[in-house]
This record gives sequence, C-alpha cells and structure tokens, in this order.
Amino acid sequence: MSVAPGRSWRVTPGGAVSGTLTVPGDKSISHRALMLGALAEGRTHISGFLAGEDCLATARALQALGVRIEWPAETEVRVHGVGPAGLKGAPHPLDMGNAGTAMRLMMGLLAPQPFDSTLVGDESLMRRPMERVAVPLQMMGARIQTHQGRPPVQIRGTPHLRAIHYSLPVASAQVKSAVLLAGLAAAGRTQVTEPAPSRDHTERMLRAFGVEVLHAGRTLAMEGGQELCATTVAVPADFSSAAFFLVAGVLGAEQPLLLTNIGVNPTRTGLLELLLRMGADIRLQRRSGADERSAEPVADIEVRKSALRGITVPESLVPLSIDELPVFFIAAACARGETLVRGALELRVKESDRLAAMAAGLGVLGVEHQLLPDGLWIRGAEALGGGAVDSFGDHRIAMAFAVAALRARAPIEIADVANVATSFPGFADTARHAGLGLTAL
Ligand code: S3P
Repeated sequence: MSVAPGRSWRVTPGGAVSGTLTVPGDKSISHRALMLGALAEGRTHISGFLAGEDCLATARALQALGVRIEWPAETEVRVHGVGPAGLKGAPHPLDMGNAGTAMRLMMGLLAPQPFDSTLVGDESLMRRPMERVAVPLQMMGARIQTHQGRPPVQIRGTPHLRAIHYSLPVASAQVKSAVLLAGLAAAGRTQVTEPAPSRDHTERMLRAFGVEVLHAGRTLAMEGGQELCATTVAVPADFSSAAFFLVAGVLGAEQPLLLTNIGVNPTRTGLLELLLRMGADIRLQRRSGADERSAEPVADIEVRKSALRGITVPESLVPLSIDELPVFFIAAACARGETLVRGALELRVKESDRLAAMAAGLGVLGVEHQLLPDGLWIRGAEALGGGAVDSFGDHRIAMAFAVAALRARAPIEIADVANVATSFPGFADTARHAGLGLTAL
C-alpha cells in the first residue's frame, strides 16, 4: 500500500531497517544539468533526474525562458539547448518555489542576458539571503536589486559583464556557481577563491560540457566566452537523501541495509567521515565506470547497526556535511557521550533555521542539548522520548525526525511535511519499505 502525501506523519517507536534501497537523483546535479543543458548547443539527455519540486521549478523557469524540455520518462529529461544567446525574456516573474539553489544559480545565469527578469519564491525562499550572490555579480557589472537582501530579485539584463577575481567570504557552492555561470558570458578570466572546499558539481559539469575550468589550490579560473556542447548526464542518487537511511541503518539495521548507486563526491560526503569517527559500520563499494558517465564518483553503501560515541566535529567538515547535519544531530542524540558542532552558522539560513528547528525538536524528545549561536551541543541518550515535533516546513528536518523514531520510546508526530517533495518524493514509501512505521496523517 502506498502512503498518500500528508501534511504530517506519525512514526511508531522502535523497529528495525534492512534491505536494499534506491533513493532519488541528486538535487544539486539535476539543477545544474538543466541549466547547462539550456545554455549548450544541441540536445542534452539527463538520466536519473530528480523529479522533485525544486528541480521542477528550475525546469519551469527555463521553459518560461524559451527552452524546450521533454520528459521521455519521469527521471529522463531531454533539454534542447538554445546556446549562449538563445534565451528569451519571460513574460512573468520566475517562481523558484522553495529552491534556494535554483534562485541563486539563476541569478548568475540571468545577469548577463539582454532582457530583464524577476525571481520570486515561496514564503521560506522569500526570507532567504540573496545579497551574497548579488554582491559579486554587481562587481561584474550586473544590475541586480534585492528587497533588503531578500527576494524578489530584480535583474536588469546586462550583456557586457566583466570577469572578476572573487574571494568568497563563506564556503558556498551556490555563490561560486552563480559567479561561474555569469563568468561564462563575461569578458576575460573569472576566478573564484574559496575559504574552504564546497561542493564542486558545477566545475565538474562545466568540464563535461566542454568548458575549460582550471583549478589551483582553492582558486578556480575560467575564460569567458567558451561554448557549451550538449552531452549526456547520468545523475547519481542523492547522497543527501541517502543520508537519512545511512543514519537509520546505523541506528537500526540489525540486518545490513544497502543503498545503491549513491553519489559519493568527496565534497559531499562529510557525514560518512563523521559517522565513521563515531564508530559506525559503513562500507563503500565503488562502482567503476560511473565517473566517466556522470563526471561524479558513485558507490553502493552498506550500513549496519552500530554503537556510536559522541565527537567534536572539526569545522573543516561542516561545509562538506552541511545539508546532512540535521540527521547527524539525530545520530548524536543516540550516541554515548557528548557531540559538539560549531562553525555551522550557515544552518540558520537554510530552508528553515535548522539549528533552532533541530534544537526545538530535540527538546520535545527529551534530549539534553544546548543551542549555540553557530552550532549545537548534544548529550546522547540510550533512548529518545516521543511527541509532536514541528518541521518548520523544512524537508530535511521532517525526514531527520522520522529517522529518530527508531530509537524513541513513544510515537513521534511530525507536522508540516509537504515540502519533503522538494528533494525526496516518495520518502514515506521508501521509509516504510526500509522498515520505519511511518503513516501519513
Ligand atoms: C547547494 C549548495 C549548498 C547546499 C544546498 C545546495 C548547491 O548551499 O546547502 O542545499 O546545490 O549548490 P551553499 O551554497 O549555501 O553552501
């Protein structure tokens, strides 16, 4: 029986997970495949595409800009590239829904166009900071206006941008990617220096589309005016979606739980390192040949129930596990001893304030914790309590607390879960298939 999408979930306490699971395609890579496919000459074929609300918002925006996109199957997409000068102004504001990545990358893509654009989003996105992208684009000559740093974002198209060397104040793949996308159309060599590595999907995919992107230390360099050639993109399963089942496996896989075809780009897999440091039994089997097809490393991951111990998270691993920290906090709540995360201020400006949202939910479950300005301190416990937890409309908070039920003594009810469809359509079914007692209410 399939679980109808509901506004809240009830998850029964305890139980075990096992079996073989697949999770949907990578969100970051799916957004980029659509955008680069649109700018390329020729037809790009994407397989393993994430047909979640966020990536569909990107697809709809590109369609409104005159790009023809076909869906031979739900996760197969054909993008008819229009080339660097082929986009047309949209007749209405582009609605990016809940998708921060879509809005920020589109700012870079739209800034050098010969037409004006306006970007809007849902209530959560309209609260999120956009100035971090507007600033470097303005340095390139773009004319972009935010509303007190937030959307709506108004872009006066400026076809003659100039290349800059931008040093990112925080490690952000979205800002880096927006500058690179604008740099494609700028005169001269665009350079971006990062304070710490962030996910590198844009660089990898630009190369797959035939663009030369040089990399030396923490600096990327790319000449403007290079053309993109259509290609095929095999999107691996999203490590960030697999993360919920990695933690579920560590907490409750009496029999092994196998996750297949997962993207294991080292700029994404900080959670693996963190769980291994806590004592988790996780084994990777690299899939050979996958790198060539997707420009991304791919592996099957096997996980077994493990006794975890608390750790102090090195700040260098924070950008590499940024989206996985909500579910990591659940692992920490079930570990022996204390766990400390600092340097995670970025969590406060995601789809929700994830530090506050996780602290509130952990409080409901009776977990001893302290909310810090840039992190969270947690003392792990043998078992968690139950109760009613608010996801604050944030997909990753909702899924993290569903996993927590494996170690709870009473049911956990999670409110406001509709946005799980932004990144993980079918999560409820996959969770039930794995063994979680999840019912949509
Ligand atoms: C993303 C980058 C990250 C991440 C987000 C997706 C991307 O944000 O949190 O979910 O696809 O580029 P930052 O750019 O703020 O690090």
